Amino acid sequence: MTNKQRIAWCITGSGHYLKESIEIINSIENVDLFLSQAGEEVLKWYDYDLDKFKSKGIKIFKDVTASSAPVSLLYDGIYNLIVVSPATSNTVAQMAYGFSDNLVTNMFAQAGKCKIHSIIFACDTEPTVITQAPKKLVTLYPRGIELENYEKLKKFEFADVVNNIDSLHEALKKWI
Ligand SMILES: Cc1cc2nc3c(=O)[nH]c(=O)nc-3n(C[C@H](O)[C@H](O)[C@H](O)COP(=O)(O)O)c2cc1C
Repeated sequence: MTNKQRIAWCITGSGHYLKESIEIINSIENVDLFLSQAGEEVLKWYDYDLDKFKSKGIKIFKDVTASSAPVSLLYDGIYNLIVVSPATSNTVAQMAYGFSDNLVTNMFAQAGKCKIHSIIFACDTEPTVITQAPKKLVTLYPRGIELENYEKLKKFEFADVVNNIDSLHEALKKWI
């Protein structure tokens, strides 16, 4: 990565592993945020203030255009890595099947088409997960379809799909 290249970090509407993802974002440089509409809402649910990111020089792109206009930044060589963390079941499903109708799924699709590497932290990857709801821990039981979509996404070129925080750190190592 050249000094000028940045990481495009996409946040989707997942409370699961949101805190861990934010901790990494706060510990690295050269990162900008791309939020799904649900990602923007969920950040508020968990009391994250977007102004705090902006004060550190992090640019924030919200999902406010039908054409996902910020993806054009991928054509200018500004970003050399896309991270989707945390990735909801919805986003994993859409990406696994090649849908690209919102900012985050478009970032992933266009990155692939530009041969830019992606790292995806999929959260619903085990038969049982304990997740952080805004006010308490909740046990969830991902369905077969969620586990199938995760497996399907793992087969994509130009993408590392991880399912725990240690693997996320490991995948990021060569980029930061
Ligand atoms: C407080 C809160 C926490 C949520 N956490 C999760 C989660 O951990 N995993 C998940 O798949 N969906 C979660 N959701 C539901 C997603 O936000 C919802 O499916 C949304 O449509 C996902 O859109 P996106 O994939 O475009 O971000 C949560 C919703 C709320 C309100």
